[in-house]
Amino acid sequence: MKIKHFLQVSDLSLEEYDYLMQRARIIKDRFKRYETYHPLLDRTLVMVFEKNSTRTRLSFEAGMHQLGGAAIYLNTRDSQLGRGEPVEDAGQVMSRMCDIIMIRTFEQSMIERFAANSRVPVINGLTNQHHPCQVFADVFTYIEHKGSIAGKKVAWIGDANNMMYSWMQAAKVFGFHLHISTPKGYDIDPSNVTVEPEYYTVFENPSDACEGVHLVNTDVWTSMGYEAENQARLKAFDGWIVDEAKMARAHPEALFMHCLPAHRGEEVSAGVIDGPQSVVWDEAENRLHVQKALLEYLVIGKVES
Ligand code: CP
Ligand code: NVA
Repeated sequence: MKIKHFLQVSDLSLEEYDYLMQRARIIKDRFKRYETYHPLLDRTLVMVFEKNSTRTRLSFEAGMHQLGGAAIYLNTRDSQLGRGEPVEDAGQVMSRMCDIIMIRTFEQSMIERFAANSRVPVINGLTNQHHPCQVFADVFTYIEHKGSIAGKKVAWIGDANNMMYSWMQAAKVFGFHLHISTPKGYDIDPSNVTVEPEYYTVFENPSDACEGVHLVNTDVWTSMGYEAENQARLKAFDGWIVDEAKMARAHPEALFMHCLPAHRGEEVSAGVIDGPQSVVWDEAENRLHVQKALLEYLVIGKVES
């Protein structure tokens, strides 16, 4: 059987997402009822972290434990990857000792080179270019709250970062339209765009991008790996805060999302992130449920519920 990796949102079809979301709903319900998970996934996940994490590490580690398996945490400091072992060699070796691997790193090319040398599925736990697990959880969260996302309008306000490129891919897979507003100098890198222009519209003014949308999304202005640019970014992103005035331009039933961690008073006001339209805690929790469905699917395939 051909190994299936999850390196970007576009790696799975709509049919596969439909299956995974249905499965995640079942897994979530059983988790809430304290029911034992079935079928047992008594396998091993290796997690490689080259950047910090709270949600990704916890959701994968707790998730694998709840599925009946084990998770091993490696970071750059302690593993030989940090001392220059070639990524290709690491892929060969690690994949002979476990059943699935999750990697959080800098360049997407690293995870692609690793996956090309892996005997087991590889999941992208965030790179500079993509964060597919988070956007999968976010789409699941939207559907949980509001039903189908197909045909809806979604705003991306802020940095043209990993989350934004994953939302662009999601627009094509799930059939919604993305409104994007990024400050000058921090705009979309065309070499990282994989979807046709019909799936998104770029707005100079962030408030205009929120007009009539069903979901407003933002993220930190300085992603991991870009810390040296923090001061310049604080200036350039002035005006891109998602606040009550911008939310007022959106559809009255619009949701607010942020993958977290967040900075109140920078990319989002406290009133919005802690307000009634915000679903940020559900987004974080749903990482656990959708990733359990994903781990199961990539390791053993579809199961009968
Ligand atoms: N949203 C997210 O991926 O959070 P962590 O960086 O805490 O894993
Ligand atoms: N864009 C952020 C997401 C953190 C989960 C980053 O890459 O740091």
